[in-house]
Amino acid sequence: MLVSGGGTNLGALLAAHDDPAYGARVVGVVSSRGDAGGLERARAAGVPTAVVDPADFPDRTAWDEAVGRAVEVFDPQLVVLAGFMRLLGEPFLRRFGGRTLNTHPALLPSFPGLGGAAVRGALEHGVKLTGSTLHLIDEGTDTGPIVAQVAVPVEPGDTPEVLLERIKVAERAQLVEWVGRIAREGMRVEGRTVVVGGPAA
Ligand code: GAR
Repeated sequence: MLVSGGGTNLGALLAAHDDPAYGARVVGVVSSRGDAGGLERARAAGVPTAVVDPADFPDRTAWDEAVGRAVEVFDPQLVVLAGFMRLLGEPFLRRFGGRTLNTHPALLPSFPGLGGAAVRGALEHGVKLTGSTLHLIDEGTDTGPIVAQVAVPVEPGDTPEVLLERIKVAERAQLVEWVGRIAREGMRVEGRTVVVGGPAA
């Protein structure tokens, strides 16, 4: 799991993963920041962590390679970006493309980019429904095939902060549900369609 912030999504998965029936376990957490709250959550749960800070690398490619190596140590079947505030490029995608999920606090393809700005953008646009999208990453910004979406209504008087917190409640539930389903039932990608469970093609 890759985090840069407080890690409430990570916390939701950690709350689910001790149940053997859930089918998935968080095997490691990699952060782009040494002060990410998500690292503390991982340590408290006994999950190993690593920090790969872009400031310690000469360029983006070197950092990207290092993130890939750090993730590889944990030998994950699935990688989850939850509040990882950096774009991953070709070196990472070569290793983990097709099995790296990102959770985003808007209904893509509307309002991609950093989560806070996406929520502000949706509010400023006057949307009545927003939500959260779980998708596979590709080389673009929030452009990969969509796994699941959940809609969240905008309420009169919402501020970006209030709306984001409402979205995050739905987002965490969505993440826990779909990571479990993918672990238990498998996933395949047909063009832009992600199929979870069901017979192999
Ligand atoms: C989540 O809302 C996630 O969708 C967003 O950051 C938040 C992290 O919350 N991700 C992005 O904005 C990535 N573009 P958390 O640290 O409490 O899990």
